[in-house]
Amino acid sequence: MVRQDCGSCHGLTLRGGLGPALLPEALRDKPPAGLKYTILLGRPGTAMPPWKTFLSEAEADWIVAQLLRGFPEESK
Ligand code: HEC
Repeated sequence: MVRQDCGSCHGLTLRGGLGPALLPEALRDKPPAGLKYTILLGRPGTAMPPWKTFLSEAEADWIVAQLLRGFPEESK
């Protein structure tokens, strides 16, 4: 789901596209709570949409944790 929906903007391997890369190296310096609210509320004035109608807070926490750990490569 993340790969499909988020990948349309962030790239299928989350290396960036219309949106910035969502790789652990890119996100390590950012506070997890801020990333979570970026996902839930979007970023006003940018293409990043709010996901709160589709995702619960727990799911957003999960996504942030997965992103920080690094998604498993598709081909493995
Ligand atoms: C319509 C295109 C689009 C989709 C779909 C999208 N994003 Fe984004 N996203 C963006 C853009 C553009 C930005 C950069 C916003 C900015 O300039 O601050 C962004 C920023 C982010 C950031 C902040 C990155 C940072 O470096 O601070 C996170 C985290 C993020 N998106 C996660 C997600 C997740 C998770 C999904 C799927 C549930 C998703 N995005 C779907 C366009 C998208």
